[in-house]
Amino acid sequence: MLELRGITKTFGGVKAVQDVDMSVAPGEVRGLIGPNGAGKSTLVNLISGLLTHSAGAMTLDGVPLDDLSSQQRALKGIARTFQNLRVFSSLTAQQNIDVAGYTGTASARGGDDLLQEAIVRFDLADKLNDPANSLAYGQLRRLEIVRALALRPRVLMLDEPAAGMNEQETEALGAALGWVRDKSECSILVIDHDLKFIMALSERITVLNMGKVIAEGTPQAVSENRQVIDAYLGEDQEHAA
Ligand SMILES: Nc1ncnc2c1ncn2[C@@H]1O[C@H](COP(=O)(O)OP(=O)(O)O)[C@@H](O)[C@H]1O
Ligand SMILES: [Mg+2]
Repeated sequence: MLELRGITKTFGGVKAVQDVDMSVAPGEVRGLIGPNGAGKSTLVNLISGLLTHSAGAMTLDGVPLDDLSSQQRALKGIARTFQNLRVFSSLTAQQNIDVAGYTGTASARGGDDLLQEAIVRFDLADKLNDPANSLAYGQLRRLEIVRALALRPRVLMLDEPAAGMNEQETEALGAALGWVRDKSECSILVIDHDLKFIMALSERITVLNMGKVIAEGTPQAVSENRQVIDAYLGEDQEHAA
């Protein structure tokens, strides 16, 4: 269980994240939505340890994360992808995946059925020996996710994984992530603006606006929430949902 209590981050005068409480259960897919600048990426950066929170506390299975570096958190099973791609472009796809395995826990090294199946589910099986810089954009995004899965994460955080993908690619990505949800104990925290994608994948959704949680609940409940409609979804979504 990932638990956040009163997590706050200020940048100078800007309260990017304000007093956020959140609990994510093992194996749960949690969507994180909200307008641009709501604090979604900052929250992921705080959980992964890329940024240090100004106030509050967070734990994974009761173990405090607050004083751990991002590397130490990765070893505890917190993995993430970035809003902007970060792969080793001169390494092959397989080498990119292997690099993650080496930095992961000892038990994560070497071949593993789940990882092998992930490579297939994320449609990378015939790209493994290609250098990352020869892969198409959608393939790179999927490679990033498989590389994160190679860490055998407890918590996988995906910052806009469907950004820049066409509808078909987004649908395939949703199916592959649904497979992770159903097959592994790993919790997934996923940010995206594609509501169809996020609503189909998430069991619960947390909505941020101006750094604060304004709603949390099932996709259905959140899409009917007046504050969420006003702050983010708009009336069209209300009727579409
Ligand atoms: N490193 C930073 N330094 C200063 N301000 C930042 C930094 N990162 C984010 N912010 C500010 O924090 C707020 C939340 O940003 P962000 O977490 O990127 O939002 P989101 O991912 O929801 O679009 C914004 O006002 C943004 O300008
Ligand atoms: Mg962001």
